[in-house]
This record gives sequence, C-alpha cells and structure tokens, in this order.
Amino acid sequence: MSPLQGKRIVLGVTGGIAAYKAIEICRRLVDAGAHVVPIMTDAAQHFVGPTTLSALASEPVQTELWNNATTPIPHTKVGQGADLIVVAPATAKAIAAYRIGYSHDLLQNTLIATRAPVIVCPAMHTEMWEHPSVVDNISTLRERGVHIVEPESGRLAGGDVGAGRLASPESIVAAAERVLGPSDLLGVSMIVSAGGTREPIDSVRVIANRSSGKQGYAVAAEAAARGASVTLVSTVSLPVPAGVTVVSVETAAQMQAAIEAHAPSTDVIVMAAAVADFRPVHAADHKLKKHDGAPEVVLEATPDILAGLGERKPEGQVLVGFAAETNDLVANAQSKLERKRLDLIVANDVSAPDVGFAHDTNAVTLLRPGAKPVEIDLASKRDVARAVIDTIAEIQTGKN
Ligand code: PMT
Repeated sequence: MSPLQGKRIVLGVTGGIAAYKAIEICRRLVDAGAHVVPIMTDAAQHFVGPTTLSALASEPVQTELWNNATTPIPHTKVGQGADLIVVAPATAKAIAAYRIGYSHDLLQNTLIATRAPVIVCPAMHTEMWEHPSVVDNISTLRERGVHIVEPESGRLAGGDVGAGRLASPESIVAAAERVLGPSDLLGVSMIVSAGGTREPIDSVRVIANRSSGKQGYAVAAEAAARGASVTLVSTVSLPVPAGVTVVSVETAAQMQAAIEAHAPSTDVIVMAAAVADFRPVHAADHKLKKHDGAPEVVLEATPDILAGLGERKPEGQVLVGFAAETNDLVANAQSKLERKRLDLIVANDVSAPDVGFAHDTNAVTLLRPGAKPVEIDLASKRDVARAVIDTIAEIQTGKN
C-alpha cells in the first residue's frame, strides 16, 4: 500500500507556465490513494482552468479567502486538516511570501496555518532561480524544515534552456512518499541492477532479452523513498527515481565491473537485471555483411555476477536475487537461493499473463532460507517492490 493512501494532501498551484504539470501531479497523487485538496492562486488560473484540476482532484479547487463555499474560515481549516502540503509549481513570488509569512491569499494562509510537512517545488527561469534573493529564501525555508524538490535543467518557457524547470511529476510524488512513508532504510546503502544486458555480435548487432528495467527501477524508487542511498546499475533509460544515482552499462561484463566496484562496502544488493547467460566469444568491430553469408556465432558463458557476490559476501550484507522461471518456479528458485548464497530470492513465473518481462505488473514468490514461501499476487511493479523492500528491511533488522 502506498504511504499516500488515505492521506489528505493540499496541492497548492501558483502562477507559472509549469502550472499545467500540476494536473499530472494531482492525478498521480489521487492514483496513489491520496485525498487531494487543490488550491490555486489567482495567477495560476491564468495558466490552467480550475475546472480541469477540480475534475481530477478529490474535491473542487479552492481559490478564495472570502466567499468560500467549503468553510467560513478557510484560512486555517485547510492547513489544519492537511497531512502534507505540496506547492507545485512554486514561483519566486510564492516562495518569497512563504518565507516572510505574507498571507495575502488562501495558499499563503494555509502554509502558515499548518503543522503538516510542506514540500516546495520551485519552477522559474534560470536567472530567477539563481538570483541571490531566491537562493536565500530557499535556504531559509530549508533551514526551517521545508522539503525542497529542486528544479531540473531543460527547456523553459520562451525557448530558453537551463536550470529552473519544474521537477518531474514522478519525482514530486516520490518526495511526497518519502515525507509521509516509513524511513526504515535511512543510512542504508543499496545497489540495484535493472534491465537486460546486451552482448555485441558486431558493431551494430547484439544478443538481448525482453527486460524493460521497470521492476528494477521500482525497487530502486521504493528503497530511495524509504531513505536508502541507492545506486542503480542500469542498461535502460527510464526516468530516474528521485534520490537515485544511475550508472549506465550495456554488457554483463560492464554490469559486473560497476557492481563489484562498490559491492564490498554496500549494505544491500538487489539483482533485478536479466543478465545474459551467454555472449559471443568474438564481437566483430565492423558491421558483418549479409553477402558474406550467415556468420557462425560462437558463444561462451558470462560470469554469474550474483554467484560471485554470494561467494565474497561480507558479514551483514543482504544479497537478493530475482529468478525468471517458466516452470517449477519454487524448486528452481530455491536451488538458485542456495547455490548463490542469497538472503532472499524473488521468483516470477514469466510464462504467466501480465507477469515479468516488460509488463507494468508482476506476481512473485519470496523465498528465504529456512522460511515458508510468501506469495505476492498480481500487483503493480511498485507494489511488488514494496513487498520486496519490506522483506529486506526485516532481514536487515534481524542481522543488526
Ligand atoms: O525488467 P522488467 O521488464 O521489469 O522485468 C522484470 C524481470 C522479469 C527481468 C525481473 O523480475 C527478473 O526476474 N529478473 C531476473 C531475471 C534473470 O536473469 O533471472 P535468472 O533466473 O536467469 O537469474 C537469477 C539471478 O541471477 C538474477 O538475480 C540475475 O540478475 C542473476 N544473474 C544471472 C545471470 C548472470 N550471468 N549473472 C547474474 O547475476
């Protein structure tokens, strides 16, 4: 279950071009089970109509301090009832007003009449974002415990390019999950692998598999949301979850080198990647020509990264594998659990509908040495990741 389930989240939208992205943020918060109370400033309504946001939120948009149909005293009621306030986008003006407690509209009143945590997501042109007054305001808000989701670099209004673009809706929702969710992995370092490796045949052709990386990214996102410091060794380019550092690789050998460089000092390693078991012995450094006839590709076994990690596992480290099976799910996974000296293996029957490779959903069986298998029925990959991380947190508690 998402930590946002049943939470009352005030979504404050201020007047910048990124206001249109608040629609997507609102939808994602509602999808995660939150009750979203939207507030728009006057300026925000120049960019997006309140009807659009009202249609997606859990209740109609509030815009007025006065003549408010919901309550006669909205300036305190909205903030008092909130579990979390997210301001996205937050303009330079809204940030300045919040810093000095200038409560001229419903959003600013709500911000100073709440005891709930607040997430501010700035969006503005680079010159404004880097202006000393904005830098100073942001730093003061941070000191007061306000969570800041920093803007990204990219295309801005008017065709400019630079820092100041509103963070992605995924990052903002992930920040909300971090703030409201458990922080049981604070101080824990974790490596997660994701995606299928690609083994070159020549300079343009590869042996690949159907892994999309979605399950690995979901594990990384959940772990980071719960406070872990996560390095994601990935063969794919999906949106990077907030707080996660990505190391891009392509082949099994590159994945092995990237993981082994950090493995000895890492608390938890989760191998969700589909690593090729075989690779061509020789990769041609040019494109093989059709008119030369079908090439004879001789294969050799790749190193088993996980088995190697199992052999050299430091005291206290938690080692987790995935098993993609098409038959005898539990027996095959159990044998990998033992052979690779794992603390946990997540077995998925990739021949079942909507399970495993490339789907948005998965169904898994969690196997631990000496424990009864635990089945997780078909669910989103994020929910599966949550169950995996719950189990890792439990194993960690037992080891410490
Ligand atoms: O990426 P998605 O599209 O979201 O799909 C998710 C998934 C199906 C890829 C994922 O859930 C999954 O099952 N990943 C493991 C796939 C796999 O390679 O399974 P395996 O049974 O062949 O390998 C067992 C374990 O050994 C895995 O943790 C694997 O990463 C590891 N391994 C395998 C071979 C090898 N040479 N080195 C390894 O470390």
